[in-house]
Amino acid sequence: MSILVTGGAGFIGSNFILDWAVRSDELVINLDRLTYAGNPANLATLADPARYLLIQGDIGDGELVADLLARYRPRAIFNFAAESHVDRSIHAPGTFIQTNVVGTFTLLEIARIFYVSLRGDEERDFRFIHISTDEVYGSLNPADPPFTETSLYAPNSPYSASKAAANHLVRAYFHTYGLPTVTTNCSNNYGPFQFPEKFIPLMILNAINDLPLPIYGDGLQVRDWLHVADHCAALRLVLEKGRPGETYNIGGDQEKTNWEVVTTICDILDRLKPRLDGHSYREMIRRVQDRPGHDRRYAICADKLKNAMGWQPTRNFTEGLVTTIDWYLRESAWLKSVNSGAYRDWVDKQYGLTAGVGAL
Ligand code: NAD
Ligand code: DAU
Repeated sequence: MSILVTGGAGFIGSNFILDWAVRSDELVINLDRLTYAGNPANLATLADPARYLLIQGDIGDGELVADLLARYRPRAIFNFAAESHVDRSIHAPGTFIQTNVVGTFTLLEIARIFYVSLRGDEERDFRFIHISTDEVYGSLNPADPPFTETSLYAPNSPYSASKAAANHLVRAYFHTYGLPTVTTNCSNNYGPFQFPEKFIPLMILNAINDLPLPIYGDGLQVRDWLHVADHCAALRLVLEKGRPGETYNIGGDQEKTNWEVVTTICDILDRLKPRLDGHSYREMIRRVQDRPGHDRRYAICADKLKNAMGWQPTRNFTEGLVTTIDWYLRESAWLKSVNSGAYRDWVDKQYGLTAGVGAL
């Protein structure tokens, strides 16, 4: 048996495949375009070709996807592949539409054709698991209850709009064609292998390189943080127990302001890797220009998943941050490998000219 994972060389996909390989002998086929965010080195420990295969390619390449499905007959597709960074979607939305909307459409269409050819157990067991985001629901006010699966969609960035469009297509393929799809909308993940354009690894990398720690606006925006291992555990359960046509929210019950997150990171680093000058990393925090259309607050109600499958987030945020920071401190080779010229171009574009409207 096998599963097809798309975008498996990215942050969550890598964690998912590594975790899967510990628990199953099933072959994992990883279809990944290897954009700037895809790093095959994340999966270098998986050396057995009978259990792991990397195919460099695009989810929007229908011929390639059809060939992979016909050849390996996976019992499930986990669609992680996406352009995932909100700030990049503001500078260049086109690739987000191409991969997240058109790419997902192609994957669905080829999966549908494959599915109608299945019979018996293969037909009964097949699942298309679509990994999506709480950002499709838009932004909450401080007193609002958390998002549930019935919250209205109100995406505010090109990224979240593209993910919302993909979610609608996934829903339509279930209702119109009977493709057994399940969609998950997850909150902010953190953990090993996250590309340092995202908030938590960016703060860690900048801090240890003695660079400013850029906080957008007043830093009081709220995110609900979930350790990536807890997300992966939820996705395994969704394959086993998720009902076709359903959506499940996944969240960590750990709402934090960005200010709380960055100061916690600084305090942990002060302990684990004190600065040579004896000052706290907190002194490097700088307010910078806010993200246009910045969502104020996300919070997730994951009761449906908890009640249906017995899932619970297992990692406390501060403890999870300590192990995550420890991982980044130990993996200097990994950090060096992602800290390429292209990454520095991005940092210059995003923070170079607009950064720094004064220290907090
Ligand atoms: P990531 O940017 O780290 O990884 C994305 C991966 O997809 C990369 O390996 C990239 O090479 C690959 N990819 C991009 N375009 C592709 C294409 N056209 N064909 C094949 N592969 C392609 O993203 P991530 O943070 O690991 O997120 C994975 C998924 O989870 C995304 O769908 C994202 O929307 C969703 N999600 C992320 C978070 C989070 O906090 N990171 C939270 C909720 C949902
Ligand atoms: O909620 C789930 C989403 O979480 C996923 O769907 C996205 O793929 C993922 O990127 C993430 O989106 P966010 O925009 O919430 O994550 P990001 O790490 O970019 O930012 C987290 C918060 O930190 C957000 O309020 C913006 C702020 N921020 C971010 C950066 C990069 C800063 O203040 N400074 C920064 O330099």
